[in-house]
Amino acid sequence: MKRIYSNISLASRNSFGVEQQATTLVEFECAEDLRTYFEEHNPVKWYVLGAGNNTLFMQDYDGVLFTPVNRKRTILCSNDDYVELRAEAGHDWDELVEWSVNEGLWGIENLSAIPSSVGAAPVQNIGAYGAEAKDAITTVEYFDVESRSVVRLTNADCHFAYRESIFKQELKGKVIILAVEFKLSRHAKPNLGYGDVISEVESRGGATLRNIRDAICAIRSRKLPDPKVLGNAGSFFKNPIVERSVADELLAKYPDMPHYAVPGDDDHVKLAAGWLIDKSGLKGYRDGVVGVHDRQALVLVNHGGATGGDVMRLAGYVCGKVKENFGVEISPEVNVL
Ligand code: EPU
Repeated sequence: MKRIYSNISLASRNSFGVEQQATTLVEFECAEDLRTYFEEHNPVKWYVLGAGNNTLFMQDYDGVLFTPVNRKRTILCSNDDYVELRAEAGHDWDELVEWSVNEGLWGIENLSAIPSSVGAAPVQNIGAYGAEAKDAITTVEYFDVESRSVVRLTNADCHFAYRESIFKQELKGKVIILAVEFKLSRHAKPNLGYGDVISEVESRGGATLRNIRDAICAIRSRKLPDPKVLGNAGSFFKNPIVERSVADELLAKYPDMPHYAVPGDDDHVKLAAGWLIDKSGLKGYRDGVVGVHDRQALVLVNHGGATGGDVMRLAGYVCGKVKENFGVEISPEVNVL
């Protein structure tokens, strides 16, 4: 069943909390809802707005926004080793993680407390604390707008990489994700190698699913602002991937600079945009109603009443300073509309 809104405020539908409107917003549950809408209206300009945690509106949206509202979860297969399950695109991401932890299922616990809908998770391959959604996703099902058909992609066909997938590349603007399928293990597979995760988990008594989830939630709430209190979209920038020679030169100058291997690619190194911004003296920087978060420099925040333009001006300033200081280009991971 779909619901159609006209001239609707987006203030409560984007985590930056910017006050813009959309000409039309369609809440849909299934492929049939989309098929009938496209057949009846054939919109030229459209965009998928999930929970709105990774989108910055620069102006009113004069097209159609599609929001998935189906929150169903179905177990497809369950045995002594693993469970395969399907979650519809409108399912809340963190509710899925909470459910998996309660069920004793391993694979997405490190992705606790990420504000997202399930449908958005494969698009940028959400990742945190050494885990990525791609490690648990088996299949993504989508509605193909041109053919009006339902297509299923296997994990390999999604071309997942760091903050990347086919949905940000070849399929961008062509498909609407309907559901995501996961395989979660019944066998303990703690992934504690990232930063202070291990000490947080140990202080709670060891590597149970519940302790890992609680530890990650605690780390995140210490560093990241709650969008309900302070508008933000999590990491505003991607961590830049640079040539090894560039990283080596910077490391000679800043031996303590955080840097990470890029799996399967020895010629490149991933740097921490948060560190580059912080080292540029911008952590906690404020420009009127917008600023750089004072506990995690990757996050830009709306102190109240900001427009998309205010945020983008600050983003441009931050990129310029990082380029000036380190010669490295950083770019937004947030979708700017
Ligand atoms: N750092 C600083 N200052 C800062 C921020 C970070 O010096 O203000 C340093 C940290 O000390 C650390 C390194 O930079 O040595 C990396 O920092 P952190 O572990 O906090 O992770 P990140 O690279 O800044 C990424 C993700 C986050 C995710 C964390 C934890 C991206 C763009 N962001 O941030 O994702 O929670 O790792 O895994 O990859 C999000 O996508 O919204 C998000 C919050």
